Amino acid sequence: MRLPAGLKAVAVAAALMALASCGEEKETPAPPPLTLRDLGAEVVARECSLCHRAAADGSLSRLSGIRKTPEGWEMTLARMESTRGVKLSPQDHRAAVKFLADTQGLAPSETAPYRYELERRPNVVESGRNADLTSMCARCHAFARVALQRRDAEEWRRLFHTHLGLWPTLEYQVLARDRDWWEEAQGWVATALGSHFPYDTSDWREWSAAPAVDFQGRWRFVGYMPGEGFAEGVMTVTRNAVDEYLVAAEEQTADGAAINVNYAAIIYSKYEWRGSGKRDNRDFYEAAALQADGVTMTGRSYWRDAPEMGSNFVVVRADRGLQRPLAVTKEGLKRGASTEITILGVGMKGEVSLGDGIAVRVTSRSEDKIVVMAEVAADAPLGRRDVRVGDAVMAQAVAVYDKIDRIEVTPGQATARLGSDKIAPVSAQFEAVAYASGGDGIAGTDDDFRIGVVAAAWDVAPYDEEASRMKDHLYAGKITPHGRFLPSEAGGNPERLYGASNAGDLKVIATVADGDVTLTGEAHLIVTKPLPPTQRGGA
Ligand code: HEC
Ligand code: HEC
Repeated sequence: MRLPAGLKAVAVAAALMALASCGEEKETPAPPPLTLRDLGAEVVARECSLCHRAAADGSLSRLSGIRKTPEGWEMTLARMESTRGVKLSPQDHRAAVKFLADTQGLAPSETAPYRYELERRPNVVESGRNADLTSMCARCHAFARVALQRRDAEEWRRLFHTHLGLWPTLEYQVLARDRDWWEEAQGWVATALGSHFPYDTSDWREWSAAPAVDFQGRWRFVGYMPGEGFAEGVMTVTRNAVDEYLVAAEEQTADGAAINVNYAAIIYSKYEWRGSGKRDNRDFYEAAALQADGVTMTGRSYWRDAPEMGSNFVVVRADRGLQRPLAVTKEGLKRGASTEITILGVGMKGEVSLGDGIAVRVTSRSEDKIVVMAEVAADAPLGRRDVRVGDAVMAQAVAVYDKIDRIEVTPGQATARLGSDKIAPVSAQFEAVAYASGGDGIAGTDDDFRIGVVAAAWDVAPYDEEASRMKDHLYAGKITPHGRFLPSEAGGNPERLYGASNAGDLKVIATVADGDVTLTGEAHLIVTKPLPPTQRGGA
């Protein structure tokens, strides 16, 4: 199989160092320090080959025929350590993940559809897969875990041996009894995955050959935290070692405070940015991807002990003369009204235009931030439209509307988890999104358009008759004025009928006022038992 490139590099470097030491000079310059990746190559060659047989070409059995994300490698290494007796120092562990993700990683195009898993986005409902594959491979974990690995059919088959070996009861568990799981896994599933997600792809070959990008410099960032709003700032990235950086961020938080955050970031596979550090003394983690343009990153940052709470961000180079609006703080502009909006961006120069029927009065501006009063004529055309600053366009960034026709609560289906004194609860954040029915006045047709997130009053109610009989809405938890549901404590509750736990089946209701009209929207929320501590938090 394939010889990991880094292994060759280490062998060559060692040979060169041996040659250098034969030289005549008295003052031999100190050899350059090993990079994390080179150290990783050594760790893998030394520690993993104890069990994974090395072939003549240097490849290691099992190990060399699989490509994974950094998180995928992390999971495998954790299993090697917890169940196979492998012992690595924290530094060797980090180095092995780095080396493996760099040399046997996934290309940007291969991770693009599944980034929600890497970014730990809560309440994602996966779709677009056939029911059999979902039932076989996406009922214990997300299908994204599968789709973020690449291997040929033979290696997929071996993974199913591992599954059955680790969880012999797998075939008798929920939703598995309708089929012969093992027979199907070894048969059509392995074949299908081997052809959808094979080891060798032109995308990865081309990406491996592409030059690496230097992340040093100044970047502008804008983040959006559902329920809270926009945070923004600039960050200065300096190199600490090859592919390892220090980040100094100056941030205006969503509630207007100015804070400085210093943290570390590492780049895997030339584009996978992973940052971590402390913010307000609390550990956070961030996962982002450098985009094909080489100057933009998009991703999500979240609390390590509560990954469901986080902020979606975009980061753009601020030292390359780029001119770009990145976000508008309010999407919906009502006909006949004046609305103040803030355009956040980088290098923004030139006239601000919101299109036909909107007079724009700039009240303050810098290249990063423009505050405007948008006066919308009573007959301004309805629908989504572009925001322009000079020659830069932010497509379909705002909407002109005359009335709200319906409210959708997002996510429409969510899970929250009770907490205990040992395990933190898992909260759920909701937002009310307004829609207009468009020219035909009929909801659910092609000409409907999104007006945007609107302020709402929040409440919970029993989801069905059984929940009503059990009064779930009184016990399962509370929803804040910002739409975040905070679950109660786990364990039996003597106050409840049957001494039941505080689990519940709820409707989350948003009430929105639009002029004299009041609209409501609903979502379904299941409040269930705590996660095992091993699945709560962490990155
Ligand atoms: C003590 C023996 C032992 C050592 C040392 C060891 N492994 Fe493993 N490894 C196993 C066994 C057994 C399996 C098959 C079962 C499994 O996957 O857990 C395995 C499987 C694997 C697989 C395939 C998993 C999959 O996704 O299907 C990978 C990759 C792997 N090991 C990586 C490593 C790396 C990297 C190291 C060195 C840091 C390492 N192993 C060290 C015993 C070992
Ligand atoms: C009975 C529950 C269950 C089912 C069904 C299941 N998995 Fe898993 N899978 C797990 C668990 C648990 C892990 C975590 C293993 C660990 O702790 O390292 C896992 C891990 C994985 C991994 C990551 C392994 C690594 O080390 O990188 C992949 C890939 C995977 N499963 C694919 C599949 C596929 C494909 C199927 C369908 C054929 C499937 N799984 C069905 C429970 C399941």
